[in-house]
Amino acid sequence: MKILLTGGLGYIGSHTAVQALKDNYEVIIVDNLSNSKEEVVNKIRQITGKDVKFYKIDVCDKQKLELVFDENPDIFAVIHFAGFKAVGESVEKPLMYYQNNLISTINLLELMKKNGIVNFIFSSSATVYAPSKIMPLEESFPLEASNPYGRTKLFNEFILKDFQSANPEFNITLLRYFNPIGADDSGIIGEDPNGIPNNLMPYICKVAIGEFDHLDIFGNDYNTKDGTGVRDYIHVVDLATGHIKALKQIESNKNNGLKIYNLGTGKGYSVLDIVNTFNKVNGDLVKYEFTQRRAGDIDIYYASPKKAEKELGFKTEKTLEEMCKSSYNYVIKNK
Ligand code: NAD
Ligand code: UFG
Repeated sequence: MKILLTGGLGYIGSHTAVQALKDNYEVIIVDNLSNSKEEVVNKIRQITGKDVKFYKIDVCDKQKLELVFDENPDIFAVIHFAGFKAVGESVEKPLMYYQNNLISTINLLELMKKNGIVNFIFSSSATVYAPSKIMPLEESFPLEASNPYGRTKLFNEFILKDFQSANPEFNITLLRYFNPIGADDSGIIGEDPNGIPNNLMPYICKVAIGEFDHLDIFGNDYNTKDGTGVRDYIHVVDLATGHIKALKQIESNKNNGLKIYNLGTGKGYSVLDIVNTFNKVNGDLVKYEFTQRRAGDIDIYYASPKKAEKELGFKTEKTLEEMCKSSYNYVIKNK
């Protein structure tokens, strides 16, 4: 069965490509390399021993994208990872975010409809949930976004819901990711952000390899067990498996309609839990200092994984130790 992964050379897309190839799907990747490198194509081949078709195309370029559908009329499903994802950058360049993250989805839906391809899986985010005093977050909880990036995810969800209502033959699954970290055990692919990382684990890794002196922990006065922020970290390989489960659900049940699932572990870990576990499994490599809270951060959130477990048979398997070990393994092999 053929699947098309947009943004398939990025962090989550490349891990999903590997899982899909291991599961005997044929994989086609469309990526414009705006946040990835072409060498990832060969890395995916190296890990799996299987071939993958790659098109260097911008999903917002509808004419070029149409060629992919013309050349591959038998695509079963599209998984749409392509998009920009840096919250701070989205505040400075909102139009760039709306343009890329919304036009890409609209182009895909139009071309899929034209070509009779009806199965679509979308990379959404926990960022679409309104602040909540009640944890864990369930799929039915109120939605709200607090920055342009988050709003692109929320608007995408609305677009996809409206489109599916108007086109009931479409099966659309929205996957709300929590905080993916970790890397494939091979250390061949992993998370490789350009410039100074915004997110916790990439920053910790840069401290561990000596690129930065220490980690700034943003706030130690949150209402959590140790005062530092609590999040639901999920191993990227588990996250990738979640996409395969969503594909299988669509394959086995032809009239899925619109489905929404959290992909998280259901466990919350604090920043100090992450640093301490990282130091325990990799050696005492990461020093830290407490600094001011980061604007926009909240104290705690984590997923209810129950719906994904019940309806997709999705259960995370990897531990926090494995997340920390594999993240570091990737950076030392690729520094
Ligand atoms: P990433 O930046 O590593 O991967 C995205 C890929 O899409 C990159 O390879 C980039 O070159 C490509 N791309 C971007 N715009 C494109 C376009 N117009 N045409 C073709 N290719 C394009 O990001 P990631 O962490 O793998 O995230 C994948 C998806 O998951 C994104 O939509 C992101 O918003 C979403 N998401 C990520 C996280 C996270 O913490 N990493 C959390 C929730 C949701
Ligand atoms: N943190 C630090 N120091 C750092 C970086 C982060 O202390 O250098 C702390 C943050 O304050 C937060 C925790 O580590 O408490 C996690 O921060 P991240 O930036 O790694 O992740 P967020 O939960 O803030 O947000 C990420 C993405 C969002 C996405 C969300 C849920 O950046 O876009 O996960 O998927 F919506």
